[in-house]
Amino acid sequence: MPAPASFSNYIDTHADAFIKRLGDAVAIQSISSDARRRQDVIVMGNWLNGQLNELGVETKLVDLGTHEMQGQTLQLPPAIIGRLGSDPAKKTVLIYGHYDVQPALKSDGWKTDPFTLVVDEDSGRLIGRGSTDDKGPILGWLNVLEAHKNLGIAMPVNVRFCFEGMEENGSEGLDECIQEEVKKGKDGWFDGVDCVCISDNYWLNTRTPALTYGLRGIAYFNIKITGPGQDLHSGLFGRTVHEPMTDLIKLMSRLVDHNGDILIPGIDDMVPPHDEEELKLYQKMDYTIDDIEEAAGGKVALSSEKTTVLMGRMRQPSLSLHGIEGAFSAVGAKTVIPAKVGGKFSIRLVPPQTPEKIIPLVNACLEAEFAKFNSKNKMEIEYLHGGKPWVADVRHWNFEAAKKAIEAVYKKTPDYTREGGSIPVTLTFAESLGVNVLLLPMGRADDGAHSTNEKLDRSNFIEGVSGLIRKTSMIIYGPIIDEGPRYLLVRGWRCCMTQVTEEEALQLLYLVNLRRIWLPSHGITAAILGVMKVSAKCADFRSFAFVYNFLDLVNAPALPTMR
Ligand code: BES
Ligand code: MN
Ligand code: MN
Repeated sequence: MPAPASFSNYIDTHADAFIKRLGDAVAIQSISSDARRRQDVIVMGNWLNGQLNELGVETKLVDLGTHEMQGQTLQLPPAIIGRLGSDPAKKTVLIYGHYDVQPALKSDGWKTDPFTLVVDEDSGRLIGRGSTDDKGPILGWLNVLEAHKNLGIAMPVNVRFCFEGMEENGSEGLDECIQEEVKKGKDGWFDGVDCVCISDNYWLNTRTPALTYGLRGIAYFNIKITGPGQDLHSGLFGRTVHEPMTDLIKLMSRLVDHNGDILIPGIDDMVPPHDEEELKLYQKMDYTIDDIEEAAGGKVALSSEKTTVLMGRMRQPSLSLHGIEGAFSAVGAKTVIPAKVGGKFSIRLVPPQTPEKIIPLVNACLEAEFAKFNSKNKMEIEYLHGGKPWVADVRHWNFEAAKKAIEAVYKKTPDYTREGGSIPVTLTFAESLGVNVLLLPMGRADDGAHSTNEKLDRSNFIEGVSGLIRKTSMIIYGPIIDEGPRYLLVRGWRCCMTQVTEEEALQLLYLVNLRRIWLPSHGITAAILGVMKVSAKCADFRSFAFVYNFLDLVNAPALPTMR
């Protein structure tokens, strides 16, 4: 078995190739919310599929049908479902990512072309649309596969993939696709999945890796106001007709206060207040007001109290006003009264809120406010899309394993975070597969996802991958012990070998009766559970630790004993 160092060498010598592959991906303008770019999203899906196949992953492209968008019927980009390995002795990890991106125009304020990956040697930044959200993290996994393949080392877990091309635009069709795959049971590709890992978020700051156990949900609305038959001259019609924009601005101002409080009755009160214990979680996070203001690019935090700001993002709902469709927004000073305007806003949701629960509150509030105006314009409320919030149990081995992995690589305990953003499919995985889902961020807080000059730091990409391989970020490997005695843990009929540290072995011994056992490679099948100290040579049987198995065991409610 090659030493872990061979992975480090591989990564060092292939870093430029990894970055080039990221550049190839960034160059494909896979903007899912722009009808003109739909073909590019499909091209991106095919490109990714080809890469997976080259790395030995068996894939199928699931046709998600068509949808209506911007007045056209458009083909949805395919979901890519993949599998690699089906060793019953190994755990099976399902990895999710999205290959579509947000729109980006140089004129939005990018310093460089958004679809040409620029490597800024001074800052170590890899700049380009999708670098951090979410092409970099997806390619991180391809790099892991590539290193294993070219070094001739089997992946220590079975892997399943689910990549989509519509995440930035409502994930149409994906829930059904996942549910159908799960329903196929043994014949489906998600059979036997033990846990899910999603890398589509960011560290809380620029220093400390994070593990994320919650996401907010979302409900997105459009308030349409119509009245005049066409746009009007404000000289001819000002103060003579009900103006749609005037109604809309007034309505939108009734939704949220300048300090972030949601004014729609019943929404803020739906969330139970925090207790002292929860407050401590936020106090512990490696986070300052400077972090948020640096990431925001301005001194604009709502409070100078870090816990207030953190709780605002992680455990409270928020309402943001996004824009007005149909309003005059070009340069110049056009004296127009727009005839039709649409006010876009969304509410980020936290448990126990769901879109179903808050839609009636939004409707009631807008209707009551609009009625007060006595306007002759018409108001229509459109619900565009939504998703439920998600919170996971951090005591699960999926999180424990990731924590150990991060500690081994970064020599730091990760921040445990809840995110303010939304990935609606997360809850679908948790509910339909009934397994634990972990969010393992690759990028940092200041990456600028969805913004101008989006970047991923080279170190997060390359060392992140190195991290993934050297057990780490990516949960799959336990600490690799290069020196000294090894403690192997043999578990059940499957003979899963887990390399653990002495400390962990002792902890385990405390929990179970020590049984001396033989390695299966020595001719005896272990139908038992136990821990043994073995020589380095013996440990070569499987030189990677499966922290999974170890933690699985430690956490198991009833431990089997030898007869
Ligand atoms: N990667 C984000 C989700 C995210 C955002 C996680 C911020 C953590 C912090 C994802 O690509 C995204 O942008 N999601 C959308 C979903 C929406 C369109 C349903 C979001 O949060 O706006
Ligand atoms: Mn994303
Ligand atoms: Mn995004």
